[in-house]
Amino acid sequence: MVQITFVQPDGNRTTIDAAIGDSVMQTALANGVDGIFAECGGAMMCATCHCYVDEAWAGRTGKREDGEEDMLECAASEMRETSRLSCQLKVSQDIDGLVVHLPEEQA
Ligand code: FES
Repeated sequence: MVQITFVQPDGNRTTIDAAIGDSVMQTALANGVDGIFAECGGAMMCATCHCYVDEAWAGRTGKREDGEEDMLECAASEMRETSRLSCQLKVSQDIDGLVVHLPEEQA
């Protein structure tokens, strides 16, 4: 198991044991984490799974997928350098301890 911490806009933190191979989005949905809607189910067509990778993890979660940036530009909350679609972040041992921040709005 790999631990991922979700931080709400109000600073509330939830740490989840995530299964390797799932996406960060799937981990959030399966554990009732508020703030991830994932309307398209992970098809990279909605941007309602937007998250901000914690600065300490910047550069350690890989590059954005092709087309991911275009979707992020449509996200309800501002796109930042650390913005990712959580459906495109795969859980692996390499990201054990990952912290992601959730945006104010997803839709
Ligand atoms: S779930 Fe729709 S883009 Fe990630």
